[in-house]
Amino acid sequence: MPDFGPAPARRPVCYAPPMPRVIAITSEKGGVGKSTLAVHLAGAFHERGQATVLVDEDGRVGSSLRWAARADGPGLGFPVVAPDDVKPKKLAAAVAVLIDTEGRPKRKELRRLSERADLILVPSGVSALELDATRELLDFLLEAGDVGRQSRVVLTRVPPVGHAGEDARENLRDEGLTVCNTLVRQYAAYQKAAELGVLARDVRDPRAGVAWTDILSLSRELR
Ligand SMILES: Nc1ncnc2c1ncn2[C@@H]1O[C@H](COP(=O)(O)OP(=O)(O)OP(=O)(O)O)[C@@H](O)[C@H]1O
Ligand SMILES: [Mg+2]
Repeated sequence: MPDFGPAPARRPVCYAPPMPRVIAITSEKGGVGKSTLAVHLAGAFHERGQATVLVDEDGRVGSSLRWAARADGPGLGFPVVAPDDVKPKKLAAAVAVLIDTEGRPKRKELRRLSERADLILVPSGVSALELDATRELLDFLLEAGDVGRQSRVVLTRVPPVGHAGEDARENLRDEGLTVCNTLVRQYAAYQKAAELGVLARDVRDPRAGVAWTDILSLSRELR
């Protein structure tokens, strides 16, 4: 009988569920499309079979919670909750947790957010003013520590015609910033979706499908 030596130690089986990936969506400018992106990204993860919770940390009009409250019929399909209503069990079972934040957060809040999130997503339009504000925020997040490296710009409300989105993306990348490949283009379907409390995918609009393609593509980049 050959001697195979001592039996290898058995690896302990780990039954702990994997931690959800926490993605916070923030910017120092208001009205850049944070809530639109938060709701749609959560919808895309959900459609792709990933249990998702959207936490709305912005209590004002126009936030994700109010979006969900307008839903009539099929609604959004995933839970949208206020921070006080987060159920630890539901959160632990989620694959992705998205955080929609208030506009114009204080720097202290941004630093705290970067400690809580695995990824900070900064939506930005392509105008010079918006890009400058985005550069400033990314610089701050990078200086705030290692976690800052988890920050990514996503260009949104990009004109569907022309090259403004591609140009902005390449310029920011040349400056060393991490920018999502997907450009979220500007379509009226998003506004209609907000009014109805649904996803752009579900509105009657000739560009609804194209808008949803952008969102799905972004969701694949992120997980
Ligand atoms: N990709 C897009 N195409 C067309 N319109 C868009 C797009 N993204 C956002 N919008 C519109 O821009 C406006 C602002 O969007 P949203 O409310 O998501 O911004 P926000 O950053 O969450 O604002 P706030 O700072 O007030 O919370 C809304 O009217 C929304 O419908
Ligand atoms: Mg908002």
